[in-house]
Order: sequence, then structure tokens, then C-alpha cells
Amino acid sequence: MDPALPAALRVAINLRLEGRPREDLARRAGDLSEGYRQGRASSALVRGVEDALAYALTRTPATYAAVRRALEETHALDPDFRPLSLLDAGAGPGGAGWAALDAFPGISEVTRLDHNAAFLDLAGSLAAQGPEALAGARRLQADLAAGDLPAESRADLVIAAYALTEIAPGALPGAIGRLWGAAGSRILIVEPGTPEGWRRGLEIRRELITQGARILGPCPHAGPCPIAAPDWCHFSQRLPRSRDHRRAKGGVAPFEDEKFFWIAAARAGPHPPAPSVSRVIAPPRTSKAGVRLRLCRPDGTVADVDFPRRDRAALVRVRRLDWGDALPEDGPPGVGGQ
Ligand SMILES: C[S@@+](CC[C@H](N)C(=O)[O-])C[C@H]1O[C@@H](n2cnc3c(N)ncnc32)[C@H](O)[C@@H]1O
Repeated sequence: MDPALPAALRVAINLRLEGRPREDLARRAGDLSEGYRQGRASSALVRGVEDALAYALTRTPATYAAVRRALEETHALDPDFRPLSLLDAGAGPGGAGWAALDAFPGISEVTRLDHNAAFLDLAGSLAAQGPEALAGARRLQADLAAGDLPAESRADLVIAAYALTEIAPGALPGAIGRLWGAAGSRILIVEPGTPEGWRRGLEIRRELITQGARILGPCPHAGPCPIAAPDWCHFSQRLPRSRDHRRAKGGVAPFEDEKFFWIAAARAGPHPPAPSVSRVIAPPRTSKAGVRLRLCRPDGTVADVDFPRRDRAALVRVRRLDWGDALPEDGPPGVGGQ
């Protein structure tokens, strides 16, 4: 899986940046980051195409990478699923659609839904030279937080990336119900990897289970989450930063690590059923003695599990695993200190 934006999207963003003063973009990008940090919604921050472009420059690479990774993890659990249609809900500049097309090139029908016309306009123009399904995507200006979604929103796969974070808590169950109602087969929600994003993720998970959905991941079970505050479940995806991206963010590192949380659910169980896995929920710790993984396990518990070097077979199973990966169950390894 390549976490970098597809070349066609990168080129499209660069073309839109041409002739625009970088200082202005950097200022708008700074205002956006500060606003999001304060918990303000895009509706208050993205007022026109310039703000939407600043978002595309500074946030789309990271949100794309997070969605692409979540799709990769979901695909590993559900390899037979091949969607033909996609709803990108709260689409913003449309990065999730590009990630879905990268993961599932067979998607031929895409709908972008957002209440912000500036975002929908930008998403359409960025995709104009992209894959056919994205270039010809349906545009729906609608509110996820109120009323029924238009019938055209229905799709095999529904993705809402960094969008439910902007819905008021009281409106969240209704929004989840609308999105689940639009999902013909699968739904993927991606949220910021903050304590608040995780808490909202757990609420989304609860609501989806209540509505009859089968959770695919990242949780390997449908029971209560075994993680307790101040700890929180989240994942991290490294992605490259372009020169413009670095300048707009005032950073020097050629990469960044996007922290995110995801929940994927299926309308009916995948056939055959998803394999039983444990999920690596922290960076692996490697020492002379071996590898220690913090695992969320199918029995609903979390444990630090040691894979000693002397046990070659166990080490081979885990040595390439990273934070967020799934470890297929294969007999009970030794449990280390919690
Ligand atoms: C932080 S942006 C995320 C954009 C994109 N999905 C991404 O991953 O980069 C949140 C998006 O959700 C949209 N949004 C927020 N509340 C919404 C609502 N009630 N109805 C429709 N769209 C909404 C915003 O307009 C914005 O495009």
C-alpha cells in the first residue's frame, strides 16, 4: 500500500496552487489547523475555495493516507469484498474517494456528499482529470445531521472520513443511522486519533452494533472496549510531505505521522467469516530478548505479549508487524507484563 497521494491528485492540487501566494496559503492553513485543534467545524473555517485549497494542501495528504491504511486493514479481514459504488460522506476535497479507487479500482460509481459547496466544487475540479469514476462523480449538497439523505446516496461502500467529528454529539446517532441506511454492504468511519476521536469512535461502534451491523475492525470482538482512559486506542500512518506541504505547515521533516482511529462494519458477515485476529494497538517494542506487542485480542482483553528471539517460529510471525496491523490467531503465545 502506498500512503502517498496518487500522482494525478498531487498534480491537480499543484495546478490549483499555481500563482497563489504561498504566504496566504500558509496563513489559511495555520488558521485551519488552529481552528480544528480548538474543535471548530469546517463550516466555520472553510468559507471559500481558497480555504478549501489550503485544506487540500495541508490535510488531504494525511487524511488520504489514514483512509488508505484503514481500507488496507479492512481488506485484509474481508478480501472478497469488491464494491462497485461509493458514497464519500463529508467528502471535503474528495481524498477518501481517491483512496477507495486506489484500493478498489472496480468502483464505477461515486457520490460525494457535503454541505459545503466550496469543498464540493474543489473536489470536482481536482478529480476532473482523475479516474473516470471520480471525474464523473455525483455531487450531493446535503446535511448529514438532519433529514433523510437523498436516495442517490446509497452505495455498496460508505466512507465518512474526519466528518463525524464535526457533527454535534446529539446529532451523531441520527447521522450514523443515515450513513448506515445508505450503506448497501460496508461502512468505514475514520476519525482523528485523539482521545476525543476514540470516544466518538466507540459511540459510533455502539450505534452501528445497535443498528445490526457486524464490526469488522479494528476491534477483534464486539464486546466492551478493554482500553481505559487516560489510554486511548488509535493508530498511526507515516506519509511523505511535499515541498509545498512543508512550506505551508512551516515544518522541515519530509514526512509526517497521521494519528487516526477507524471503525469498519458489514451489513452481513463477510463470506467466509473474517479470520480471527489480534490487533497491534501500540508501537512494537523490540529488544535483545525479542519483540513485545500490545495486542487487543478476540477474547476482549488487551495484553502485552512477548515473542522471544529463541522462539524462531513466533518471531517470524511478528517481526514485520507494525502498530495497527492484525496478527492472525495461531495458538496462545506467552503473555508479558501489562
Ligand atoms: C475535516 S473535513 C474532512 C474532509 C474529508 N473527508 C477528508 O477526509 O479530508 C470534514 C468534512 O465534513 C463536512 N461536513 C461536516 N458536517 C457536515 C454535515 N452536517 N453534513 C455534510 N457534510 C458535513 C465538512 O463540510 C467537511 O467537508
